[in-house]
Parts: sequence; C-alpha cells; structure tokens
Amino acid sequence: MSPSHPIEDLNFMVSLYCPGRCAHCGLWKEKRSEIIEGELDVEMTGRFLRSEALRQVGYFDLTAGESQLSPNYTKTVELIAASHPGSFIHTNISGWYPKTHLEVTRKCVDLFNPQRFRLDISIDGRPENYRRIRQVRDGWQKAMKTIECLRSLGCILRLVFIVHRENYDDVRWFVRFAEELELDYYIGYSRRSALLRNTDQPGPGYTAEQLENLEQTLQEIGWLMGRRKDHWLWAKQVYQGTPPRFHCLMGRRSLVIDPFGGVFPCNELLPQLRMGGLIDFDGDLDALLASAQAQEVCDKVAAARCQPCDMLCAHKIVFPWNSDQGGAV
Ligand SMILES: C[S@@+](CC[C@H](N)C(=O)[O-])C[C@H]1O[C@@H](n2cnc3c(N)ncnc32)[C@H](O)[C@@H]1O
Ligand code: SF4
Ligand code: SF4
Repeated sequence: MSPSHPIEDLNFMVSLYCPGRCAHCGLWKEKRSEIIEGELDVEMTGRFLRSEALRQVGYFDLTAGESQLSPNYTKTVELIAASHPGSFIHTNISGWYPKTHLEVTRKCVDLFNPQRFRLDISIDGRPENYRRIRQVRDGWQKAMKTIECLRSLGCILRLVFIVHRENYDDVRWFVRFAEELELDYYIGYSRRSALLRNTDQPGPGYTAEQLENLEQTLQEIGWLMGRRKDHWLWAKQVYQGTPPRFHCLMGRRSLVIDPFGGVFPCNELLPQLRMGGLIDFDGDLDALLASAQAQEVCDKVAAARCQPCDMLCAHKIVFPWNSDQGGAV
C-alpha cells in the first residue's frame, strides 16, 4: 500500500440481514440463516481494525442491511472506540425497530462520542409514496417513533431521501419536512445494484422532461453544490444511458469489507474486484493488501477496467469536468 494513498474511510458491512420489505432493494428476500452464515467474529474485526493500513481512517460506515439488528454492531462500535477514538461513525437505518434502535444507540453513545456518531434514517417521500417504496406495515409510524426516541441521545440524526420514480416529485416536500423536524438531510439517487439485489429491475426510466424538472428542483433547493452536484450529474448521465468515465480512487483511498471478511474497493462487491478474504489472512489486512490479487484489483480500478460504472455512491472519484481542480476528492 503506497503511503501516498492512505485509506481515509472504511465501509464495514456488519451484516446484510434485513427483515424489511422495500420495492427497490431485495436484501429482505434473503433468509436470515443463509445471509448471516460465515459473518466475521468480533475477534477478527478487532484484528483488521488494528492494521497499519487503517491507521489514518477517520470515517467508518457501518451500513449494510439493517446493521443495528446484528449483535455484532455494538461490539464493532466498541472496537472502533478503542482503535480509532477520534473518528466518525455513520450508519443508515430504516427506523422500523424503535426499541432496538434506542437500546443499541444508547450503548453506542456511551462508548463513542455522540457528536461523532450519526444515524441516517430513510424517509423516501411523503407518507403515501413512502408506503409504495417501503412496504413494511406501519413503517412510517415506526420510523417517526424512532426519530422521537433517538433525539434525546445527543447523536447526529439525518433524514435520507433516495429519489425513485414513485417519489421524484417529493423533493421539496422532503426538504420542508426535514426543516420542520429541525434535522439535516441527504438526497441520493436510485441505482441498480447486485448488492441491493435489484438488477432484475429496470432503472427509474425518467423522461427527459422529468430529469430536467428534477434537476431544476435540486438547483432551486440549493442542493447542487460541490460533490453533491457531481453526484447528481453522474446519476443523470446514468439515467440518460451515457455514464461518465472518471478517475476512481476507491480501493486506494477507501475500502469496503463485507460481513464475511471479503475486501473490495467499493460496495458493488463485484467478484472481479475482490482483493482477498480476511479469513485467508487470519485478519491481517496489511498482508492482504500487499498481495498480488489486491494489487491487481487496484491496477484494474486505476485502468478503469470496471467502467462504465453506475454505482452512484462511490465518493473517492475525480470526474472529467473537475479534472482541472487538482483532483480533489
Ligand atoms: C441498503 S440500505 C441499508 C440501511 C437501512 N436498511 C435503510 O434502508 O436505510 C442503505 C441505503 O440504501 C438506500 N437504497 C435502497 N434501495 C436503493 C436503490 N435501489 N438505489 C439507491 N439507494 C437505495 C436506502 O434507502 C438506504 O438509504
Ligand atoms: S433498503 Fe434497507 S430496509 Fe429496505 S430492504 Fe434494503 S436493507 Fe432493508
Ligand atoms: S469505477 Fe465503479 S466499480 Fe470500479 S472501483 Fe470505482 S466505484 Fe467501484
């Protein structure tokens, strides 16, 4: 691992298990016994967290399925508190398990600075559209209850809205809703993904007019700034069928570790981009990253052999329209 490319952030997918019922993510269709089989034990997690390669990591994303339902979630936070006490921890949650979210988060904020611990709660549109996308019974009420319960804990709460074809007209509603609740928000875009078990679905299939309206709305709410503008332009070009080519630093500045110890550059978890398995290296991430297989993957990514790419949530990227800005990522 070249010292000029320290890993800055890590997505450790604690568990892919999710008992939800979403229209555009099929993780819930997997049986619990099958999807948790072979998850890393916490001892192994502790070992890779202490690796030299992760010494400079400042941001941990613990999202996968419904990670907070895993008994390993709190233990992982405890291990990060020991190995990287000054870092930032982030997790997306559905909010459908108010009691569990409260109990788990209460333990986490005892272990880790609440001001550096953020939960993003999925709110995909006004209630009638939310129900079409997030089909869990009373899901809306449960998510609202979770927000209410978590407020007192002092951690950072944010609302997340993924724009899908059912809710693309709800962006302004969402911004007002977040403002009413006095919460920060984040807007992301629907994608087809093997990880999300939805590659059998068509994309959102927006018309040119719908894309233009969406862009205008995003512009008017002040969303299209910096990396957020890049993110939108990437999504827009994917929806238009012409994904942009870009310089990708995933794998060199950022890593993903799946629940079973597979190490990848990004959360598409593409088999051809598997850098190795931690079990085979007894948890020694430094040795894994020094392997020929890991180096080969970095070379593939550098040579853009995994593009065109419609992943939409990779972040260590330089887009062609920014290449005159010194490659800031
Ligand atoms: C896979 S979920 C895991 C966390 C939690 N279960 C939840 O739903 O928030 C992580 C994020 O992916 C988003 N997501 C789900 N389906 C998506 C899709 N087809 N395209 C883009 N994002 C999607 C969710 O809305 C959530 O913000
Ligand atoms: S989006 Fe989240 S809640 Fe919905 S099925 Fe996927 S992992 Fe579960
Ligand atoms: S180009 Fe896409 S698939 Fe390849 S490493 Fe980057 S984000 Fe992953």
